[in-house]
Amino acid sequence: MNLFLDTVRGSAGRQTPIWIMRQAGRYLPEYRKIKERATFLEMTHDPALAAEITLQPLRRFPLDAAIIFSDIMTPLEALGIPVDFTPGPVIREPLRSRAAIEALALRDEVAPFVGEALRIVRAALTGEVALIGFAGAPLTLAAYLVEGGGSKEYEHFRRFLRSEPAAMHLLLEKLTDLTIRYLQMQIASGAQAVQLFDSWAGLHDLRTYREYGLPYNARILAALADAGAARIYFALGAAHLLEAVAELPADAVGIDWRTDLAAARAALPGKALQGNLDPALLFADHSAIAAEARRILDQGNGGAHVFNLGHGIWPATPIDAVAHLVETVHAYRRP
Ligand code: CP3
Repeated sequence: MNLFLDTVRGSAGRQTPIWIMRQAGRYLPEYRKIKERATFLEMTHDPALAAEITLQPLRRFPLDAAIIFSDIMTPLEALGIPVDFTPGPVIREPLRSRAAIEALALRDEVAPFVGEALRIVRAALTGEVALIGFAGAPLTLAAYLVEGGGSKEYEHFRRFLRSEPAAMHLLLEKLTDLTIRYLQMQIASGAQAVQLFDSWAGLHDLRTYREYGLPYNARILAALADAGAARIYFALGAAHLLEAVAELPADAVGIDWRTDLAAARAALPGKALQGNLDPALLFADHSAIAAEARRILDQGNGGAHVFNLGHGIWPATPIDAVAHLVETVHAYRRP
């Protein structure tokens, strides 16, 4: 019996669980302290350090789940792709030819240090706090790999997708195989739920998402059906994609702050919803935070609902605002 896991799997009791995307990170002074003496790569590659950072927010707030401290780009070294963080991911040699994609070979072991970190965290958690593993969705990973880093328009990536569709599918195939192996390893190491982050899905129109996003996401989620972990799919700016997202074999879908939860509920029958407070709301005064949280909680009432932000928490977020949000969500009782 675990409130978060039961809710993700669709049971709707009187209490709503909460965790926060990017809950371990720069808004916490204890994270910034570690950051003074370690690089992001060191933090993610050292299992004891990654486990410590994962647990930091849990010591401050009674959250219902922990998410392993890592990055969506972390497993790419198993395809022979080095990634720097400045702080966003940077690819030294962006993939812009079919030959470069053909040359990518998947190694046997995918980020074993993440598995070790998961084992440490799982042993430190009581049964009440669930442990979430995660990965990036292939189309979102491909955006970074072809572009070379973050971007507003993802011009190189979108050009490549249109001019080299077969090479793009080959890249997505390889990323799908990597991601299945990576998430299976995380579940075997103690992750009780996994979230697939598709942060750049919203760049694409529905037809393009149906061809380049949906089949790979579906293959990953289907491969995990019997692995024993709950499956969450999160896409950003994806209101126009929900009719396709509804077809994914996921237990829950993360909704960003621009999409109304009631509309998402209607578009996603049979799925638990996760979200969707605007991260900027945490800069408002406490009464405004509580009022908006309760509005979202009321909206989530039509079925299973995990409270979260609509996207990752911002580095400048006041800590007392987070404490107030968690308190408000936990004090709420569904009718
Ligand atoms: O508690 C947690 O959720 C932290 C674990 C986590 C990180 N990245 C740590 C991180 C998770 C779940 C991610 C996912 C991630 N990474 C996504 C998907 C979620 C989303 O925000 O859409 C994406 C797109 C990335 C790629 C990425 N990595 C970016 C854009 C950046 C830089 C800007 C930023 O948002 O922080 C990173 C670096 C990164 N990943 C940092 C952290 C804590 C910052 C490193 C630092 O402290 O300097």
